[in-house]
Amino acid sequence: MMLLEFQLAGFLGRFHPIVVHLPIGFLLLAGLAELIARKRNKNLDGAISIMLLSGAVAAVLAVVLGWLLAGEGGYDESTLFWHRWVGVAVAVVSIIAWLVKSGQLQLASKTYQISLVVLVLLIAITGHLGGNLTHGPNYLLEYAPEPVSALLGGTQKQNIVLADDPDSVKVYEHIIVPLLESKCMECHNETKLKGDLNLQTQEAILAGGDNGDVIVPGNAHESEIFKRITLRPDNKKFMPPGGKTPLSYNEVKLIEWWLESGADFDKSVMETGVEPEMKFVLAQLYGLDTDPKSYVERAFVEAASSDNLTQLVDAGFYAQPIAANNNFIEVKKKRTTDIDKSSLKLMDNVKQQVTWLHVGGAGLTDTDLSFLQGMDNLTRLHLENNPITTAGLKVIEGFPHLESLNLYGTEVTGDVLDILKTLPSLKKVYLWQSKVTREEAAQIQEALPDVDVDAGISLSS
Ligand code: HEC
Repeated sequence: MMLLEFQLAGFLGRFHPIVVHLPIGFLLLAGLAELIARKRNKNLDGAISIMLLSGAVAAVLAVVLGWLLAGEGGYDESTLFWHRWVGVAVAVVSIIAWLVKSGQLQLASKTYQISLVVLVLLIAITGHLGGNLTHGPNYLLEYAPEPVSALLGGTQKQNIVLADDPDSVKVYEHIIVPLLESKCMECHNETKLKGDLNLQTQEAILAGGDNGDVIVPGNAHESEIFKRITLRPDNKKFMPPGGKTPLSYNEVKLIEWWLESGADFDKSVMETGVEPEMKFVLAQLYGLDTDPKSYVERAFVEAASSDNLTQLVDAGFYAQPIAANNNFIEVKKKRTTDIDKSSLKLMDNVKQQVTWLHVGGAGLTDTDLSFLQGMDNLTRLHLENNPITTAGLKVIEGFPHLESLNLYGTEVTGDVLDILKTLPSLKKVYLWQSKVTREEAAQIQEALPDVDVDAGISLSS
């Protein structure tokens, strides 16, 4: 029986937010009609009396349902107190106004007019408080322009627009805070400390709640915050309680990730480390691409002048951008035309921009390679089928970004390892049909485990 009563109360209470609009409408309309009647000198008393009566009845109903809803708990006590009693005042004043209007109560007309003004004010106040109760105190001004929000005392809120660069997105500030804000802070803030816990700031989170620490850095499953959001939803201790929208699976995963990775308050997404599962979640929820970017995607160079590019083309090269959104270029000797070696010096004008260079089969010797001097934005270099030796390659020593080097069909020998060792970004080297022996190729591979040494079929067979 008790249970049934309780459920009925809960059921009816949920209608409060709907019913509450009726008295607002009726009573504001009554005020408006009264204004019009005075301005136009019309007698609208009958209509206004009906509006006031409807408003009073609806206000009483809203109060009753509101009372039932408040019984559910989980609301900020002081806001609830004022919302409740200002709401009751609305009901009382509207009854009085109706009694006066319908001639059942004699009051000075001035008093009646003031009561209508007071009514409008009371409605505004309790309506605002009610909004705060359901949506949290930041709701109204959340998207207000900053000057307005500052004037009205709203709390400043950071933009949750995530930059598309995962290096600049902070896990706590940009991902965890907005989650806590939307699902937890309405009950865990500096004024409303459910469980004596404030989740608004780093200090407050570290201070914990009634039962001590709520996070254990590096261990999500020992963290009270994580335990509470992963209980069965019908558990009394489940957060958020009272049938409020729980965290989604992905949101729970994000909190777990943050806690497991040490609950750092400052690290970026990339610094925190993104495992495949999180990579997917971050891409899905935030459109964040957490694949490490290649050098040419990260770096910026000025555009090469079109004159310089035209000169290269005239000399027998292809010269074109490698992607629409950056200024790096690819320069390639046309297969069918021979180039005049003196045209290699044209490369000097674009040495910052060239990142892919193909000069295979150009009859280059060691001394010709001096044009590579300073082309340290190279990421791919094709020198195949040129009569060059290790000595000529000294010029590319220490190139920081070189990832792929093709020495197929050149005269380099096993000592090319001395050059390869100095290339920190090297991922692939082609040595097939060079003077490097099988054994030397195997030694090079052993010395450079992160590099894919391609010595041709003869090596693997
Ligand atoms: C509707 C209000 C409400 C919301 C929303 C809410 N909580 Fe709570 N929370 C409570 C109440 C009430 C308690 C105290 C009773 C208890 O411990 O279960 C509490 C207690 C806690 C505690 C235990 C504190 C301690 O030391 O005892 C943690 C942790 C917690 N909440 C985390 C969260 C998290 C995380 C969220 C968001 C996913 C959240 N809460 C959302 C009302 C809320």
